[in-house]
Amino acid sequence: MQRQAIAWRKAGRRVVLVPTMGALHDGHRRLINMARKKVKTNGIVVVSIYVNPKQFNDPKDLKDYPRTLSADKKLCREESVDMVFAPNTLYEKDVSAGVKEDDLTTRLEGLHRPGHFAGVMTVVAKLFNLVLPDFSVFGEKDFQQVTVIKRMVRDLDYPISILVGPTVREADGLAMSSRNVLLTGDLRDQATVLSRAIELSRQSLGSRAVDIKRKLKRFIEKQPDAQVDYIEFVDTINLNPLKTVKKGSRILLAAKIGPVRLIDNGLL
Ligand code: PAJ
Repeated sequence: MQRQAIAWRKAGRRVVLVPTMGALHDGHRRLINMARKKVKTNGIVVVSIYVNPKQFNDPKDLKDYPRTLSADKKLCREESVDMVFAPNTLYEKDVSAGVKEDDLTTRLEGLHRPGHFAGVMTVVAKLFNLVLPDFSVFGEKDFQQVTVIKRMVRDLDYPISILVGPTVREADGLAMSSRNVLLTGDLRDQATVLSRAIELSRQSLGSRAVDIKRKLKRFIEKQPDAQVDYIEFVDTINLNPLKTVKKGSRILLAAKIGPVRLIDNGLL
């Protein structure tokens, strides 16, 4: 991969990387389209597909994660992706170095998924070093993730511009996610409560965050199989929690719907 990347650079081709874990859906497709737009037809669009074991804190989640490589390759062909990079593994058996961050990753998802962001940052750093992209595209769906990646790029001086694609949703508001196929039976309907909670929060500008958080938790947990992990109103730049719900802040939330843990977020 790296040899190819060096050859592209020598030839003056601009390269854009879309990192994924596969089970591609229209959210990923949107990022791939953004990537192509950025580098036009002369540039190179690389999609990486790798279910990164280091970012899974729950072995069952890793085992159940959907793997659909041939359908993924078909989607990439449809979107004229130049290269699908789908390594079997990216780690030496005795790997002992990695990337960490001590501020943004200590909150929200970081609190509920120990080691998750160190795993994400390490694999993304490796992908950057292998693909040597000029640009890399991430989805707003994982808002804390893209904030953490931007911080890594800034603090470690990666010469890469990060592009952010909007969250693509199903018609009923559910944010597309590779894990949605695990929502069996009426769990699929119950899962729409997350985006409905975000909508509801938009009616609460000016209120105290504690009050709205309590109200939204009750609203979500009216669903028989829903259990809230966290609901937080944060500053969009540094993810600091806010005391008052105000325009321009962002709501981030995570909940389990039955056995499936989902996250969502929205700008107020
Ligand atoms: P994955 O969950 O496959 O997501 C790959 C990219 O697609 C991420 O940038 C994610 O934010 C974006 N994405 C997912 N659902 C989306 C949606 N509904 N709308 C828009 N974009 C969406 O995120 C990861 O993989 C991994 O952590 C990775 C960055 C690849 C590192 O392993």
